[in-house]
Amino acid sequence: MNSAAEFLYLTAADVSTAMAEVDPVAVAERTLLLHAERRTELPEEAYLGWQDDDGGPARSLAMHGLVAGETRAAGVKVINASLGNLDRGLPRADGLVLLFDTRTARPIAMMDGGLISATRTAAVSVAAVKALSPAFPASAAMIGCGRQASVHLELLRRTLPSISLVRLYDQKPGRAENLASDLDGTGLQIEPVESAEAAVRGADLVVTATTVTEGYLKPDWFMPDAVIVHVSLDDLLPDVVHAATTVVVDDWTLVAADHRRLLGRMLRDGSLCGPAERPGAAVRRVDGEIGDYLAGRIARPPGGLTVINPFGMAIQDIALADQVLACARVRGLGMALPR
Ligand SMILES: NC(=O)c1ccc[n+]([C@@H]2O[C@H](COP(=O)([O-])OP(=O)(O)OC[C@H]3O[C@@H](n4cnc5c(N)ncnc54)[C@H](O)[C@@H]3O)[C@@H](O)[C@H]2O)c1
Repeated sequence: MNSAAEFLYLTAADVSTAMAEVDPVAVAERTLLLHAERRTELPEEAYLGWQDDDGGPARSLAMHGLVAGETRAAGVKVINASLGNLDRGLPRADGLVLLFDTRTARPIAMMDGGLISATRTAAVSVAAVKALSPAFPASAAMIGCGRQASVHLELLRRTLPSISLVRLYDQKPGRAENLASDLDGTGLQIEPVESAEAAVRGADLVVTATTVTEGYLKPDWFMPDAVIVHVSLDDLLPDVVHAATTVVVDDWTLVAADHRRLLGRMLRDGSLCGPAERPGAAVRRVDGEIGDYLAGRIARPPGGLTVINPFGMAIQDIALADQVLACARVRGLGMALPR
């Protein structure tokens, strides 16, 4: 392709084909380490929220990132969501990733962002569990059974074979059962259950992937050494954060800049502080960032309840999209578009 005259567009199907040749957990781990070494640029996200035409909540996030690994990758993910889409037969979230030439700054490729976004999120969860879990988890709970849950379970199954039992809960009837049937024949024991509490009790690993905006998960529901990956960012009651032995984020600056989600709200009401701060009485300090644990700067927690709160970093989307683009080029995938 003559990149001066054209750029490449990859459909969702192209991304999926190319993704099959990428190890997303390795990409996530590399990017977390580069972030810990400050070899990334991660500006604050732009957030546009509005009421959709039916009066429901809709939003668009624009997330830039630059990763300076062996080669550099830069770009932006735009990821939009409307809660009403599930009833419209559409994915709740959808978006695009645009990659830039780091020499000229010109856009070089654009690709469907849905699978990139879901896969990078699941890959960061797996990387964090591997770096922080006191033991290999044998059982897992998945709260919310939409796209994130599906991609998480596929990656967890491939990368953490110690997990043999998964309990699923979704507030919408049939969703847990549908996800369970997708996992038929994988060898996992899958149990749809009737409540979040029933899913969480007894689970070594808990992943939340709902769309709630208020907490409901209580501290005494969790196993003493459970690891919680709080992907949907608003499921935990503040008491869980206070009760946890270890609280870890992917990027404290991003978490602190946000006022909508649990940890940002706790920071603003004075009940949480950042890793570099000295906590006052009744203030919970965030222990560190995932990359600090991966790099061995902070020792793996010996046990106790661990909360991992991955806000979601654009650098992970860009690093994964860059790998997908490389595979797509080798395979001749995508459509060259004129500028
Ligand atoms: N932290 C990150 O990096 C990151 C990245 C991407 C998505 N997310 C978040 O992950 C969440 C899930 O995304 P998705 O694409 O899978 O959404 P989705 O709409 O496909 O699925 C969400 C599911 O949660 C269920 N649900 C809603 N409230 C529930 C409740 N109280 N109890 C049980 N189930 C409930 C819904 O019925 C639905 O099945 C969203 O909140 C999204 O913002 C986080």
